[in-house]
Order: sequence, then C-alpha cells, then structure tokens
Amino acid sequence: MNLQDIDALVLVGAGKMGLALAKGWVRDGLPGGSLMLVDPLPHEETIAFAQTVGAKLVPQIPDEPARAVVLAVKPQIAEQVMAGIRCAIGPQTLVLSVIAGISIKAMQNGLGTKRIVRTIPNTPAQIGKGVTGAYGGDGVSDDDNALTNALLAAAGTVVWVPQENLIDAVTSVSGSGPAYVFLMAEAMAAAGVAQGLKPDVAMVLARNTIIGAAALMDVETLDASVLRQNVTSPNGTTAAALEVLMAKPGLTELMTKAIHAAHMRSLELGE
Ligand SMILES: NC(=O)c1ccc[n+]([C@@H]2O[C@H](COP(=O)([O-])OP(=O)(O)OC[C@H]3O[C@@H](n4cnc5c(N)ncnc54)[C@H](OP(=O)(O)O)[C@@H]3O)[C@@H](O)[C@H]2O)c1
Repeated sequence: MNLQDIDALVLVGAGKMGLALAKGWVRDGLPGGSLMLVDPLPHEETIAFAQTVGAKLVPQIPDEPARAVVLAVKPQIAEQVMAGIRCAIGPQTLVLSVIAGISIKAMQNGLGTKRIVRTIPNTPAQIGKGVTGAYGGDGVSDDDNALTNALLAAAGTVVWVPQENLIDAVTSVSGSGPAYVFLMAEAMAAAGVAQGLKPDVAMVLARNTIIGAAALMDVETLDASVLRQNVTSPNGTTAAALEVLMAKPGLTELMTKAIHAAHMRSLELGE
C-alpha cells in the first residue's frame, strides 16, 4: 500500500512521537492535505509543520469517520481522549496506537471498535531509523495490516509480534533501548577518562565508535556475533576486553537483568 493513496489520516497528539511519525509519512509520500493533526494546544513546531506541508491542524477531532486514526497521546490521558474521538471511528476506521501500556481490550472498550493495532516505536523514528513492534487485535484485516506497515515503515523497521503480552517485551528491548546505547557511550567515555584521556576526547571516541559500529551493522548482513568475532584477534586487546565483558556474570547477564526490570515496569504501568 502506498501512502499517496490515503485520503484521510488523523493523528491525535502531535507531540514528540506523533510529529516524528507525521514527518516520516509526508517524507514517504502522504499528501499533506490528507493529514489532520488533532492537538488542543499545539507546540510551535507542530504549527510550523502543519503550515509547511498543508496539513489541517484542529483542536478537536471532527465528527466524520477517517480511514485511519493514529493515537499518540500520553497514557495518562488516553481514556479521556478515547471518549472524545469515538465520533471519528467508523466501521472502516483503523486505529493505530503508539500509547505505551494501554491494552487492546481497553481501547476496544474506549473506542467501540475492534480494528486496533497496538505498537511501540522508538525515538530514532525521528530520522526514519526507528524500529517498531506491532500487534494486531482480532478485528484487523489484511488491508489494515498493509496500511499499518506503510505507516510504520516511515519510522523505520517494523516487527510484528504474535501475542499482545509480547508488546511489553518489545517496550523493554527497543522502546527503551536507545537509552541503553546512550549509557554505553557514557560508560565507554568514563572508562577512557580512567585511562588518562581528557573527557571531551574520550566522549568523541566513544560516541563515534558507537555511531560507526551501528552504521556498519546497518550495511552488513552478517550477524552481530560474526562482526564481533571479525574484529577480535586471538590474544589481542579486543579479546582482553571481551573476556571481561563476556565473563559470567557479564554484560549479557546485566542486560538481561536491566531489560527484565523494564519489562516489569511496563507491566506495572499497564495495570
Ligand atoms: N517518545 C518515545 O520514545 C515513545 C516510544 C514509544 C511509545 N511512545 C508513546 O507515544 C505517546 C506520546 O509520547 P510523546 O513522547 O510523543 O509525548 P508528548 O510529546 O507529550 O506528545 C503528546 C502530545 O499530545 C498532546 N495532547 C494533550 N492532550 C491532547 C488531547 N486531548 N488531544 C490531542 N492531543 C493532546 C500533547 O500536548 P501538550 O504538550 O500541550 O500536553 C502533546 O503534544 C505516549 O503514549 C508514549 O507512551 C513514546
């Protein structure tokens, strides 16, 4: 499905994530005039974006069903927002939610439809390099899946999970994941300072190592483990560091513990 073919797409909540998605849709060919942004107190960036691409910007959703409604408001106000947008949900409307922690069942109750796809994107969506986990409920058609793929492809890679409870696992791995990588840059830089480097020099080295390694992984088809082995000479410096990182318990055990904590928190927030 092409975004050019969509004639009525509504985004409810044009904040950080909503706007990142909207920018990607227009970049991928959605005509600006087909996009409606619903936000009662839009930020300057949202107003400027709407003007530039010719999208409608309204404080409240109009009383006419759209082909797709994307929900990108904070979880705390989701219930109130759902009550206010029921009028725009017709039998042909696909609802795509990026709201963390709000279940399909809660959305079915709040919106009176079963055509709901629940997703978790992450912040690199801002530059089209995100990864989104998606789960489609019972009432979702093949056409809805194709539309979801087209909408989410604008944010980067799309992965479908077969059960809704795996959305919490997605949140813990990729939703929160960019922060783990930023921490890795901080940790490598701090370790460089401990070896005598100036803080700014250590950060340039750490940051660009992560950027370069990620870019390499992006263009290579080889597994991460093979890329790692390819840069590890026997008894060399990399091998010495990896012996520490891969000891038991090492980085894998620590990451498993961290991601488990994120998973538990995601479950708590969804209660
Ligand atoms: N950021 C991430 O990495 C990420 C990742 C995965 C999922 N998510 C999910 O994405 C959703 C949005 O997060 P965000 O970081 O983009 O938050 P955000 O920047 O606060 O965006 C939410 C937007 O909704 C607006 N809004 C408030 N009340 C509204 C209403 N009644 N109708 C329409 N819009 C309304 C807010 O306006 P005001 O600022 O004026 O209140 C704001 O512009 C959350 O549910 C979050 O769980 C985010």
